[in-house]
Amino acid sequence: MIDKFARRSREEGYRARSVYKLIFLNRKYRLIKRNDKVLDLGCYPGSWLQVIKNLNANVVGVDKKQIISMPGVRFILGKVEDEKTVGKIKSYGKFDVVLSDLAPNTSGNKQLDQERSLELSQIAFNVAKDVLNHKGNFVCKIFQGREFEEFLNQIKKYFHFVKATKPEASKKKSREMYVVALGYKI
Ligand SMILES: C[S@@+](CC[C@H](N)C(=O)[O-])C[C@H]1O[C@@H](n2cnc3c(N)ncnc32)[C@H](O)[C@@H]1O
Repeated sequence: MIDKFARRSREEGYRARSVYKLIFLNRKYRLIKRNDKVLDLGCYPGSWLQVIKNLNANVVGVDKKQIISMPGVRFILGKVEDEKTVGKIKSYGKFDVVLSDLAPNTSGNKQLDQERSLELSQIAFNVAKDVLNHKGNFVCKIFQGREFEEFLNQIKKYFHFVKATKPEASKKKSREMYVVALGYKI
């Protein structure tokens, strides 16, 4: 059955229902400002790219799946764990905002999926530490699991404000949360 966010995203011309997660997070935490440079990790099919562009920010998207190109959007095809991909990201210089909606292909094994999600979140955090500007913002999807608190505590050392939140558009049965980290201290 098609849910209200999926229906709305089709009506409003967005590429995925997950668009409403970023819209919610951005309204609540004012993550992205006009002219900001934004890195979107795990950007396929591109609904977050659409929002970032609508906010008049500059964006570089990264995914292991090829997106349908979008005017004004730069895209890197590759896996975030590959050095080559990270090298290409760094060639764009520093960013004001790093977003990660990276998600593993679910295997049905809850623990394995949580571990893989944590790995991807950790990679996103490492990339953010490398490329964020001072006072920059970081958002990262993560599945709640055993090492969730530890990951959150790590992030707290580097940002002035850190909160884990679940947007309305995130399905109730899903264990995903979004970590919002504002004001990079380095
Ligand atoms: C939930 S989707 C992102 C949806 C996107 N935010 C949007 O609104 O259009 C998660 C994405 O993470 C990507 N992904 C998962 N593992 C990855 C990896 N190791 N490297 C790059 N991309 C990866 C998947 O290909 C998938 O497109």
